[in-house]
Amino acid sequence: VLFRSAGGGQGTRNHGNLTACTTPQAVSVMADSTVVPHHIAIVMDGNGRWASRRLLPRLVGHKQGVESLRRCVRACRERGVRVLTVFAFSSENWNRPQDEVSGLMELMAMALAREVPQLAKEGVRLHFVGERAGLSDKVRAGLAQSEDATAHNTALVLNVCFNYGGRWDIAQAAAALAQRGEPITEASLHAAMGMAHVPDPDLLIRTGGEMRISNFLLWQAAYSELYFSDRLWPDFDEAALDEAISAYGARERRFGKTSEQIQAARSA
Ligand code: IPE
Ligand code: IPE
Ligand code: MG
Repeated sequence: VLFRSAGGGQGTRNHGNLTACTTPQAVSVMADSTVVPHHIAIVMDGNGRWASRRLLPRLVGHKQGVESLRRCVRACRERGVRVLTVFAFSSENWNRPQDEVSGLMELMAMALAREVPQLAKEGVRLHFVGERAGLSDKVRAGLAQSEDATAHNTALVLNVCFNYGGRWDIAQAAAALAQRGEPITEASLHAAMGMAHVPDPDLLIRTGGEMRISNFLLWQAAYSELYFSDRLWPDFDEAALDEAISAYGARERRFGKTSEQIQAARSA
């Protein structure tokens, strides 16, 4: 893996230093010169269907989803992705049957206890993004402990959006600014939101075949490249990830400019 430094934020060979609002960072390039996104975000959808197709309870699908996430985290790290953001539980998922909701909460607590020591060893830094109020004391404590245990890691930032909604995030940021009597601008809102510690996602993947955003990163996905996979999340393996990354590499990110401008900047 070769590291190439790009002048402006999420720069790749496709968009040089055209992005505003992000800090300079290195961009990794795979051995075959495929551009690797700095930040990948994923709507991990399809766990329930994966289980139902096997005549298994939906929760078995969610457990398999944790396995798939472990594999994906490792694969991202190996490919030089620096930030991975996953949607694990939405503000709207509370509307599911009570036993599925409580199963998901228990699974989160269990998965943290089991996975965090290894993640800590692998250099992964965990952040949980979402509303903490409304979660049980046990889950809240698990999130805080996991963040503390991995706070010094730098290989990969893993943001887990849990009890998260894009609308909630924008509204809570605006409320915080109003409370402090600060002006509401794009920059101040961005800084008050749950994802202020990372640049916006370059590539947003949704598995499970649905082509919708479902209240995921509404603000931050403004210029993300969207990629939809028919694979159910438990089946989304390294090969599927590589397909998404190479599709990303073939995109031309224009950020409002013309293709000619992009080409000219690239050859300059
Ligand atoms: C995504 O899988 C995980 C969560 C929403 C918690 P689903 O549970 O939505 O799976 P499908 O879409 O029903 O197959
Ligand atoms: C989005 O999936 C939320 C997560 C993956 C956590 P959903 O399955 O809840 O989305 P909809 O309801 O099909 O839009
Ligand atoms: Mg779903």
